[in-house]
Amino acid sequence: MEQLDLYLSIAIKAAKMSGDILKRNFKKQFIIEDKGNRDIVTSIDKASEELLYRYFQKVTPEINFYGEETLGNIEGISWVVDPLDGTKNYVHRIPYFGVSIALCEDLLPIVGVVYFPLLGELYMAIKGNGAFLVKNNEKSIFVKKQRILCSSTERIDHCFLATGFPHSKSQLLGDYMSELENVLKNVSAVRRFGSAAYDLCQVAKGTFDGFWEHGLESWDMAAGALIAEEAGCTVSKSDGAPWNIKSPTIFVSNPKLHTKLLDIFSSK
Ligand code: IPD
Ligand code: CA
Ligand code: CA
Repeated sequence: MEQLDLYLSIAIKAAKMSGDILKRNFKKQFIIEDKGNRDIVTSIDKASEELLYRYFQKVTPEINFYGEETLGNIEGISWVVDPLDGTKNYVHRIPYFGVSIALCEDLLPIVGVVYFPLLGELYMAIKGNGAFLVKNNEKSIFVKKQRILCSSTERIDHCFLATGFPHSKSQLLGDYMSELENVLKNVSAVRRFGSAAYDLCQVAKGTFDGFWEHGLESWDMAAGALIAEEAGCTVSKSDGAPWNIKSPTIFVSNPKLHTKLLDIFSSK
């Protein structure tokens, strides 16, 4: 087995274990605490990260670990994890949430797995090998691995986009709002689901033609960006410059729309 295939299987196992915690506790009572500016964390975010940290330390002690709730070391080769992407959806009992796991090398993802346990969808990619979706059947067994591809929409007025608001980083609102205004004047529709990992996987699957957001962190984007790229998307910053997991913005779309949408972001 190639080394990256091995790391992919490790990431899938970790995502399923974390996803089971998220699913099992979804309807239960859990602790919600304030964290930063109008931000929250639950005991389930923490339990999921604890599990991921312990598992990766056990099976890949040679690889650094960097998680949203405990941070760590992102240098060189590292697991970059969001133990629960869509915490506010989770708290409000909205099923768009999941766990996002990427193996990164020098700030670029080379393996990505995102699992949405309530939707029964697990997305995966290895750099250079395409992107895939596996679905749960009614007995919660994963079946039917299928390759996924981005959309082929070319017309801007047919364009169906997802975005995220930089709501707790108010200093980013100015640039974002002018882009949003320009986009809304040109495209068919814009949606905001509340999980960047979900948005990115839906662009990969061709549901959305593109997605952009300002102020995301490495753990929000790393796995989903690789999955989108491997599904044929172009990934950049929102000004078109090369993206990495530390970039302050991300813009992902099918390649036919990328330049046209970049022009629209910056139009006056
Ligand atoms: C958040 C979600 C949301 C995005 C926020 C993220 P979290 O992650 O991805 O869609 O707009 O910027 O912080 O806090 O639920 O892991
Ligand atoms: Ca997140
Ligand atoms: Ca999170």
